[in-house]
Amino acid sequence: MRTLIAANWKMHGNSSWVDKPAEFGSILPQSKREGVDVLICPPALFLAAMTANTQGVFIGAQNCHHEDKGAHTGEISAEMVKDAGADYVIVGHSERREGGETNRAVQAKAASACRHGLTPIICVGESLSQREAGEAEAVVAAQLAASMPEGETSIVVAYEPIWAIGTGKVPTIEDIGSMHNHIRKIVGKGVRILYGGSVKPGNAREILAVENVNGALIGGASLEMDSLAKITQAVAVSS
Ligand code: 13P
Repeated sequence: MRTLIAANWKMHGNSSWVDKPAEFGSILPQSKREGVDVLICPPALFLAAMTANTQGVFIGAQNCHHEDKGAHTGEISAEMVKDAGADYVIVGHSERREGGETNRAVQAKAASACRHGLTPIICVGESLSQREAGEAEAVVAAQLAASMPEGETSIVVAYEPIWAIGTGKVPTIEDIGSMHNHIRKIVGKGVRILYGGSVKPGNAREILAVENVNGALIGGASLEMDSLAKITQAVAVSS
């Protein structure tokens, strides 16, 4: 299974950032990242320019609407994301779930992504109070059951504990391992399971070496290409 190193730029960047994948390629050429897929998910505004300008790095969106078209001001469809040349779309990120996005909406978005030839990255993860109450595995199982599109195997799952996002806090290696084993039992073989939440060059190697961690979804540390390259290199070394 190829490892997936995915950058979620969230609401960062400007038009000059379309050159960042080329910068990444010069820091870490493809010959030095065998077995690793690198994906960058910029703000939607930059998708088309980035896909036109990028080689050797996949490009994805951070969200899509579940319908193909219609009166949905400010939204973009999976079909539009595909038309812009992208290959992946993140769905159900906790920052969107916090804004009211339901499992049912996430499932519909993921299904639309699959219909249009995109690979959805379906995000799940517990809150701190859920973890402290010993409910983390049950919460994640329920999210997966309700947000995965039925019968689709070309999906990626990202486990992102909410309390680890942007905080510098990371679960123990044992906790990451047991959650990823738990998710593996639910999703079956062949689905890549990413870990996300405060992944940095300094902890990437240890996290990416855990069984059933098939890559990472990275926020803050993905904005600098040097740091993204160091995280990518950590896989090459640990695999
Ligand atoms: P950080 O890497 O900044 O913690 O963000 C993780 C994340 O939310 C990626 O989707």
